Amino acid sequence: MKSAEIRNAFLKYFETKGHTIVASSSLVPANDPTLLFTNAGMNQFKDVFLGGDKRPYTRATSSQRCVRAGGKHNDLENVGYTARHHTFFEMLGNFSFGDYFKRDAITYAWEFLTSKDWLNIPAEKLWVTVYASDDEAYDIWNKEVGIPAERLIRIGDNKGAPYASDNFWAMGDTGPCGPCTEIFYDHGADIWGGPPGSPEEDGDRYIEIWNNVFMQFNRTADGVLHPLPAPSVDTGMGLERISAVMQHVHSNYEIDLFQHLLAAAAKATGNHDMENKSLRVIADHIRSCAFLISDGVTPSNEGRGYVLRRIIRRAIRHGHQLGQKQPFFHKLAKALAEVMGDAYPELNKNQTQIERVLLQEEEQFEKTLDKGMAVLEDAFSQLSGSIVPGKVVFTLYDTYGFPVDLTADIARERGLSIDQEGYEAAMAEQRARARAAGTFKVDYSAAGLDLPATEFLGYSSLVEQGNVLALLQDGKKVDRLVEGQDGVVLLDKTPFYAESGGQAGDCGYLELGGNRVEVRDCQKQGSSHLHLVRVLQGAISVGDLVAARVDAGVRQATALNHSATHLLHAALRKVLGEHVTQKGSLVDSERLRFDFSHFEAVSAEQLKTIENLVNDQIRVNSAVATELCDMDAAKAKGAMALFGEKYGDTVRVLTMGDGFSVELCGGTHVSRTGDIGLLRITSESGVAAGVRRIEAITGAKALELFDHVESLVDAAGRSLKANRDSLIEKLEALVAQNRKLEKDLASLKTKLATAGSGDLLSNAVEVAGVKVLVLNLEGADAKSLRDSADQFKNKLGSAVVLLAAVEDGKASLIASVTQDITSKIKAGELVAYVAAQIGGKGGGRPDMAQGGGTELATLDAALASVVPWVSNFLK
Ligand code: SER
Repeated sequence: MKSAEIRNAFLKYFETKGHTIVASSSLVPANDPTLLFTNAGMNQFKDVFLGGDKRPYTRATSSQRCVRAGGKHNDLENVGYTARHHTFFEMLGNFSFGDYFKRDAITYAWEFLTSKDWLNIPAEKLWVTVYASDDEAYDIWNKEVGIPAERLIRIGDNKGAPYASDNFWAMGDTGPCGPCTEIFYDHGADIWGGPPGSPEEDGDRYIEIWNNVFMQFNRTADGVLHPLPAPSVDTGMGLERISAVMQHVHSNYEIDLFQHLLAAAAKATGNHDMENKSLRVIADHIRSCAFLISDGVTPSNEGRGYVLRRIIRRAIRHGHQLGQKQPFFHKLAKALAEVMGDAYPELNKNQTQIERVLLQEEEQFEKTLDKGMAVLEDAFSQLSGSIVPGKVVFTLYDTYGFPVDLTADIARERGLSIDQEGYEAAMAEQRARARAAGTFKVDYSAAGLDLPATEFLGYSSLVEQGNVLALLQDGKKVDRLVEGQDGVVLLDKTPFYAESGGQAGDCGYLELGGNRVEVRDCQKQGSSHLHLVRVLQGAISVGDLVAARVDAGVRQATALNHSATHLLHAALRKVLGEHVTQKGSLVDSERLRFDFSHFEAVSAEQLKTIENLVNDQIRVNSAVATELCDMDAAKAKGAMALFGEKYGDTVRVLTMGDGFSVELCGGTHVSRTGDIGLLRITSESGVAAGVRRIEAITGAKALELFDHVESLVDAAGRSLKANRDSLIEKLEALVAQNRKLEKDLASLKTKLATAGSGDLLSNAVEVAGVKVLVLNLEGADAKSLRDSADQFKNKLGSAVVLLAAVEDGKASLIASVTQDITSKIKAGELVAYVAAQIGGKGGGRPDMAQGGGTELATLDAALASVVPWVSNFLK
């Protein structure tokens, strides 16, 4: 069976059991600060398990793209070393949200695997583990399914802490979790490895193929397990592993999905040994890298982007190891699209973008890879023990762009390890930054607080009465906040928009009688709106009925910017092309900022066209329409769904300008495009490889800028005594005139210095038939001094000329000697002799030399010494 057929069979099987087929979500988890990448099929249902989100179904099935690199579930280091670990894989899953539980989950899994109508795997090849204390699951397997005790293993807390077990699954440090039962496939005695729980369990003989988690708890940051509203089921089966079973191969790398990739990797690197570990690493890594880029991640130095960079660099290094020193990795995007493009059409659509990002990263890393390897080889050769010093690891990271796991990977190949502690000491600062990128905001649900849901009424009104359901202070629930205190207010209903989709949260006030509470921001946690407040007057208590009043001016200014962002996005795609997609946006009352994929600077001309297109739409003043519909209907309308956003089953489609812009958006917007008034782009810049940023202003802010520029123009006009039409002409004339004056001045200075040179010539003294002229030309600059020296020399016949000039406390000296006597007197020596007497230096050619000094008090004496000095040589 081909992988694609297995994927389809799985979804079909569970569909026949009443499950709704749900599409894979993005690898970038929507609105979940606790998760780096989507790492399991259940991620998109997290809030459903926790009870904060409801779906129209209680059974679901999916094939979810997952990345396990860099987060809690991190397999990066294992890739290439085992036959079954990947950075990217597809997880087939079935889910029950308070519907069926252990019995059905187990019997469904068993039927799908062993029934003749489905996968038809011989039962005796399958082994099962259950959580040690889970008698219920044990009995179902043993007594109902008939798994004999010798193939049914209880696994306890084998990872050193309560609930730290291979058979207790948790999504992250916090969140849904529960005991699980895992199904293993025995690949046969010719493969090394032992059954689960045995000392040889890490071998490749017994491979876990399916994990059935009985979701029962929400673990909070304090480690406490709180029962979920309803016991649920979350299962996951790796498509690659089950494909290996069905295709009768022992390694995932031998399945159909990987064959094409390995062949492409062999071609791109010039190494055709399909068993080669490096080829496998490359074939694995192209999958995670391409899907991550396709889902909007770009390589960077922190957070998700840094994990992507680590994977790409690991792949490049393995190519390097195979002898490929040219960029090769990007070429595999095409092979991946060929083999997975049917199931994931976005790979075809984004292929060029993927290639460009990878190529850019390859070109960048190529520059330092060789040098870094030389440093590392050097360190290896000097090593006395088997541990690479932390300092070397840090230098490689800091100077040569070697992620630490890359260095560890190389060390491991030589049987060495790295001094992690020493490295971390050097890295303390960078680690703090990485941590900050991993968990961005306060996660109140993780703090174990059960927060009430909020009904949002702010699309249609800006003032509402709301009941205070809860108050938080310093992350803990309180009954009351009093004057001067900061905290968080939760209401049953609110008109306050909570920050999301790039739009800033609303600000305003909560009022009750004389009590006044300022809302400074509003944030979202699950379906709760958190009003971040300071009590200005009186107090606020749980149970109060308050008037919640949004600052209408700020909201409106924000709406202008948000609506303008949609028009800008559409205009960018029209002018630059369909490859433009949103990479991030920030919209508040002051301005808008829009990041998008594009590979070169947007030219001034293009920017103008884009700005004009938006302003045309503004002037058309069409109504802005919002409509709620399902995802399919939204797609049919051509709506753009944005990266990192979470969309429920019902989506909100926002249309502007007769289809000019159609986007899914939960934000607040203007009613007619004309409300925006005017859009003015204020800057365009690059923020990361392949990502550009436009900043712009609208409405009153744009007008303010316009007024400011006007007043500058008027002020300039007044200074130049010019009207607007002639302003530039005047300015250019002024600049030209200034340039001419500078030139005139320079030549005047020269003239001045040489003026009356006839008279000055009379100062020349004759020594043995040679004219010696020594002069101090006050006020001359270096150039005019040189010109004068030449002129004097030309007029004097055989001559030695030494000129001095004083400017800004410094004396410049020029010595000039006619060619016929340079054999006797050298200008360079003369100027050096004089300069030395005024605390300076000099030198040059025999016929022309320059120098200077700063001890002006001795200048006259120094000049007086010239004639005697010259005389010495002429005698
Ligand atoms: N969430 C579980 C896992 O990832 C089962 O899907 O193993």
